[in-house]
Amino acid sequence: MFNKMLVAIDGSEMSAKALDAAVHLAKEQQAELSILHVGREAVVATSSLTGIVYVPEHFIDEIRQEVKKEGLHILENAKAKAAESGVQADIIYAQGEPAYEILNTAKEKGVSLIVVGSRGISGLKEMMLGSVSHKVSQLSTCPVLIVR
Ligand SMILES: Nc1ncnc2c1ncn2[C@@H]1O[C@H](COP(=O)(O)OP(=O)(O)OP(=O)(O)O)[C@@H](O)[C@H]1O
Ligand SMILES: [Mg+2]
Repeated sequence: MFNKMLVAIDGSEMSAKALDAAVHLAKEQQAELSILHVGREAVVATSSLTGIVYVPEHFIDEIRQEVKKEGLHILENAKAKAAESGVQADIIYAQGEPAYEILNTAKEKGVSLIVVGSRGISGLKEMMLGSVSHKVSQLSTCPVLIVR
């Protein structure tokens, strides 16, 4: 039923659980598995004095490169973990708004299942779902598996 799957990971414990579930399912369903990580947009600080801080372009590029390096590291680890279970997954790195990138990648790849964790890095305990898993489950046109 699920021949193409996409799992989104942010490096959190809950997304590691989502990865485990996705790998397990992909193996069982003999499905293709893609692992996606969305790098954070560069954070720009504001000055309390003027309200404006000018950040040189090269500095923003440097931050982007650092964020990308960290993201690729997360993805390579996940790929190795999948391979340990006999699943050859492909990895995708994107930058932007996570929910949008997850939905867009799912659409582009024509996946039949998206797997996410119920919460992620920020992990507020009192909240049922994180904003990314909430948005993805609300807006996705294909089934979404939320792992907790
Ligand atoms: N940057 C990301 N790249 C890929 N997947 C992500 C990313 N952020 C979140 N996810 C996916 O969404 C799941 C839920 O994370 P989410 O960000 O919604 O929760 P949170 O971090 O606890 O709360 P919030 O970000 O709303 O403050 C994660 O387990 C992961 O599967
Ligand atoms: Mg989050």
